[in-house]
Amino acid sequence: MKEEVKRQLLASDAYAEEDVSVAARLARGERVALIEVENLTKKFGDLVVLDDITEKVEQGEKVAIIGPSGSGKSTFLRCLNVLEDPTSGAVYFEGANLVDKKVDINLHRRRMGMVFQQFNLFNNMNVLKNITLAPVHIGLHDLRKTKAKNALLRFTNLFRSAANKKTLLPVQTSAKKIREDAKQNALRLLARIGLADKANVYPSTLSGGQRQRIAIVRALAMNPKVMLFDEPTSALDPEMVGEVLELIKELADEGMTMVIVTHEMGFAREVATRVLFMDGGKIQEQGTPQQIFGDPQNERLKDFLSKVL
Ligand SMILES: Nc1ncnc2c1ncn2[C@@H]1O[C@H](COP(=O)(O)OP(=O)(O)OP(=O)(O)O)[C@@H](O)[C@H]1O
Ligand SMILES: [Mg+2]
Repeated sequence: MKEEVKRQLLASDAYAEEDVSVAARLARGERVALIEVENLTKKFGDLVVLDDITEKVEQGEKVAIIGPSGSGKSTFLRCLNVLEDPTSGAVYFEGANLVDKKVDINLHRRRMGMVFQQFNLFNNMNVLKNITLAPVHIGLHDLRKTKAKNALLRFTNLFRSAANKKTLLPVQTSAKKIREDAKQNALRLLARIGLADKANVYPSTLSGGQRQRIAIVRALAMNPKVMLFDEPTSALDPEMVGEVLELIKELADEGMTMVIVTHEMGFAREVATRVLFMDGGKIQEQGTPQQIFGDPQNERLKDFLSKVL
């Protein structure tokens, strides 16, 4: 009898509240967005920089983040790939919680390209090396891992009967091929941005705009699922802003998912599918560029736009 009452209670609307957390949705086999941030809070000492943010980015979206200086835009972006450790909350990328210590963060971070305001190229390496460094490193690392696993399997197979021997993992590549593929890919990317002739020069000999475009293709060389840009043009001389924005716009048109912190309101209006306005560690308002720039509701957003437009 007791069980029956309980069953009826649970079935009634009041008690059948669905758990809408990402973890519960994943457990139910439901689809989650490419990135989902849940109750994300970041504090530096007593300073609350991100205040309980829940937000998501769907595949193919181009999300622009705008807001006054110090509002937490960069911190938010850096929390998305856990360059900054959240104080609390979760960041799901392709369904894996990057904040969970059991998750191999490096494996997932590979698929998130990040481009900063300062180009962050390695000045002691030529352009080609800058672009191939990470893909080669990862390719060789994976190859070593596979070979080590196979060595272990070969050894343990010695103790297995013929019928129980385990098959070795396929090794489809070699160190030489990994290096060659990375080089060809880098040259293809450089050709795409019209800088094929710069493959062997050092970053210090390039203009800011060239360096930033190379920083972008360096991120692309990892074949990312999403690109995170933090004010990619704000350290550039004005005449170089256009070429960098043009490249980002091309990527957007090709369908790349991106989150871009920007002070370029014209660019946000043109390229973004959604604009988030941050202030005081919260997303105060969000909407389409038409809504945000044409019909802002939040007083702080109105004030901000009156200063920047
Ligand atoms: N490592 C840190 N240690 C302490 N405080 C920090 C740290 N990083 C950021 N902050 C503080 O967090 C707040 C938000 O900084 P954040 O860089 O995210 O702002 P922002 O919106 O990107 O600003 P801007 O438009 O100037 O780049 C600021 O008050 C900043 O001083
Ligand atoms: Mg910033």
